[in-house]
Amino acid sequence: MVTPVADLPIGVFDSGIGGLTVLRALQAHLPRESFIYLGDTARLPYGTKSAETVRRYALNAAAHLVARGIKALVVACNTASATALDQLQSAFRPLPVIGVIEPGALAAARVARQGSVAVIATEATVRDGAYQRALLRQGVRQVFARPAPLLVTLAEEGREHGDLVRRIVADYVLDIATMSRADVLLLGCTHFPVFRAVCQELLGADAMIVDSATTTAASVASQVSPASAADGRTTYLATDGVDRFRRVGSFFLGRTIDTVELVDLV
Ligand code: DGL
Repeated sequence: MVTPVADLPIGVFDSGIGGLTVLRALQAHLPRESFIYLGDTARLPYGTKSAETVRRYALNAAAHLVARGIKALVVACNTASATALDQLQSAFRPLPVIGVIEPGALAAARVARQGSVAVIATEATVRDGAYQRALLRQGVRQVFARPAPLLVTLAEEGREHGDLVRRIVADYVLDIATMSRADVLLLGCTHFPVFRAVCQELLGADAMIVDSATTTAASVASQVSPASAADGRTTYLATDGVDRFRRVGSFFLGRTIDTVELVDLV
């Protein structure tokens, strides 16, 4: 029997396990839906690679999910959303392909009272300028963007607290958020929500800190037809290190991951 489109899972793709922060918001927002999450752990990080390479990797990963049957694709990776979203949308049209940059910019613009936003992201995301453009489109007056690559490594180690974490986060965040006098700090990378508490502590309780996860989930909900039966299952795929994915992924997802299937994209 052919599965009706509405009952197909929603595909979610990231360069690794950080995108589980977006999956977590999707699962909370759309509890009746099934998801299939692919982490391209063999090729992580994307954030230090050229735009051409990121596009090639993103197309590969997306093609794998599309071949399995999905009703929409969420590009949870900020770097892939910044550099490859247009290519993914045209390659897989009419499939809805939703990135995290516009929803993240929307979340920041909504709370930027004086109209200035500081963004931390990967090198590739900052270089592409996608957040800067999206924020200006949303009416933000000033954008300060800074790469914070070491935070990806710390998050991958499962480190979210401690003196070292605090010192590194402070180095990235204090000058951009304080010197720029930004109203809002936008965490423009899948891995950075795990440092929200440290950022809040450093910037003060009143500082506005946002990420893309919740607004992305709302955008997905508005673009997909709801599943007819509540399934709520998630399948996890990774291109390398399934044990590590299970272990560190549970930290990003906030719940235990039991099974991860190893897949090859080449
Ligand atoms: N997923 C990437 C992002 O959100 C971070 C990790 C990487 O560099 O691949 O930009």
